[in-house]
Amino acid sequence: MVAILGYSRPQILAAVQAMYSAVADTPDGAFHFPVGAAASRRLGYPEALTGRLPERLLASFAGVGCPFHGEAIRPGDRVLDLGAGAGHDSLIARRLAGEGGRVIALDLTAAMTRKLCHEAALAGVDDLLVLQGSAEQLPLAEASVDSITSNGMLNLVPDKRRAVAEMFRVLRPGGRLQLADVVIHRPVSVDCHEDPRLWVECVVGATVKEDLLALFEEAGFEEVRVVGRHDYFALSPSAQTREVAESFGAHAVELAMRRAAGSPTLLQRWRHRLDPRTWWRRLRRRGLLGLAAFALALLSCYGTLALVALLPLLGIGLALNEGAWAGAIAAFVLLTLGALVAGLRRRVGPWPSLLGAVGAGLVLYALFVDYHALVELTGFLVLAAATLWDLRRRRRQEARVLGLD
Ligand SMILES: C[S@@+](CC[C@H](N)C(=O)[O-])C[C@H]1O[C@@H](n2cnc3c(N)ncnc32)[C@H](O)[C@@H]1O
Repeated sequence: MVAILGYSRPQILAAVQAMYSAVADTPDGAFHFPVGAAASRRLGYPEALTGRLPERLLASFAGVGCPFHGEAIRPGDRVLDLGAGAGHDSLIARRLAGEGGRVIALDLTAAMTRKLCHEAALAGVDDLLVLQGSAEQLPLAEASVDSITSNGMLNLVPDKRRAVAEMFRVLRPGGRLQLADVVIHRPVSVDCHEDPRLWVECVVGATVKEDLLALFEEAGFEEVRVVGRHDYFALSPSAQTREVAESFGAHAVELAMRRAAGSPTLLQRWRHRLDPRTWWRRLRRRGLLGLAAFALALLSCYGTLALVALLPLLGIGLALNEGAWAGAIAAFVLLTLGALVAGLRRRVGPWPSLLGAVGAGLVLYALFVDYHALVELTGFLVLAAATLWDLRRRRRQEARVLGLD
């Protein structure tokens, strides 16, 4: 999910600025993520691009990949570097844009923009436009840039949908975007989004890869593709960060895409959002498939009963195929049980699955062997308890990994 509920926005922004002020001012300090020239090399920046960068600027590099693998920047481009940090990528972009080109470097953190201005001046680059501001509200006109590059910023932005809409707004039709960012395999489900420490760990604010791609497509970007991948957190000096990252499948990807000629219509946006495949994936990744299947089992059982009772009152006759009805209920009950059993792999333990098997057994017995309403209802109640127990165990396990217990 992209819109994240329950966090305190000012606290998160303050934590992000505090963290990246430290990366600007004391890059030799201890950070949970890789920083500096060694990180730049290990993330695949060719020497030809970084060779002439000032040493102090390289020291504050905090990117998560090499967005230049997206090859978005052409000679003569007016380029926007979003979340530019100390300017590692801004100076590379400046060189790629060449004589007729221009680079605007924007960052939220004042210490970063100060350092960038200072180091660029020392390096004799006097035509960079450095802005302090937020990616959620760009101080730039519509269609005013030809290409955008961004490295490691989006996962730190609270309102990603708005930031992506802003990228779309300032990019000219047909303009190109290259971006490196952190993605996760499954989102954090415990209620910890208000914890600024976890936010700056770069995992809690990150998006599931497919959701990130969908976010750009829904905003009107075309040819959205992954051009590179890094096991970024394996480079982290912090064992806890490595464990958190592994638990959520966090890694970095490099993306490339193009802005479509026009904005997507409302219908196109909603077609994307309502795609059943997207919903299936989202529920599965969030571990909510069991709960959804259970809700459908209840609905197909008692919802159908209610319909059968109510429709004749409205003068509508309904012929119910009892076999198909029982089959639908059984399918959803088995799907609920399957989701619980899948929890075994997530170290949730066997007990919720065993309880779920008892509940499913009772419902199936009532449906296919000897119907008794009380047995059926008891089966549903036991299955509900197992599903909620599984969810609770999973959240507690996540909280443990995140160091919240
Ligand atoms: C991981 S660092 C990467 C910096 C730089 N791109 C690099 O490769 O060294 C992310 C940067 O994004 C900036 N940032 C975070 N949230 C932002 C926002 N909402 N708007 C603009 N910049 C933001 C931070 O201040 C930080 O400098």
